[in-house]
Amino acid sequence: MGSEISRAAVVDHDAILELHHEAGWAQSRVDGEVWVARENGELVGSLQFEELPCGLLFIRAMVVRADSRGRGIGGRMLDEILETRLSDWWLECRDERIPFYSKHGFHVVQEQVIPAAVRELVRPRTDRRQNFMHRET
Ligand SMILES: CC(C)(COP(=O)(O)OP(=O)(O)OC[C@H]1O[C@@H](n2cnc3c(N)ncnc32)[C@H](O)[C@@H]1OP(=O)(O)O)[C@@H](O)C(=O)NCCC(=O)NCCS
Repeated sequence: MGSEISRAAVVDHDAILELHHEAGWAQSRVDGEVWVARENGELVGSLQFEELPCGLLFIRAMVVRADSRGRGIGGRMLDEILETRLSDWWLECRDERIPFYSKHGFHVVQEQVIPAAVRELVRPRTDRRQNFMHRET
């Protein structure tokens, strides 16, 4: 059976945080515009994004439950959410995720052309490379 993608409800908060923790994001928050994927009524994925004052959209905390990955849920969730807004989408990801996001229309942007408003949203890290990716409408 296919997954259903919809806006999150307030009661989904704890289940979403649990997905974040499973992904290793100890400090995460559920905020911005939050969407979820359900399978047989069970929450198996979530994605949140925020709209910057300049109109750009920034995706954060996209995750699918570990035992449900690799079956297209994340890709469908991302595509459906991208369809909801005609705007420039941005995200930051680790090297291993570049192929996934490239498949969904994003491309890696050089450091010099990342908008300051986007750069400021992401805490600089030294433990891995930070790739900023952009998708134009
Ligand atoms: C990134 C993530 C959300 C993708 O969700 P998903 O439901 O696995 O996505 P899809 O199934 O649509 O696509 C995953 C791709 O990896 C491949 N894959 C195969 N087995 C996989 C597995 N066990 N786990 C993840 N990906 C797998 C899929 O075949 C697919 O490649 P393809 O599009 O070339 O076929 C999910 O892997 C995840 O939650 N990872 C941990 C959290 C994370 O890194 N989030 C992104 C932060 S930038």
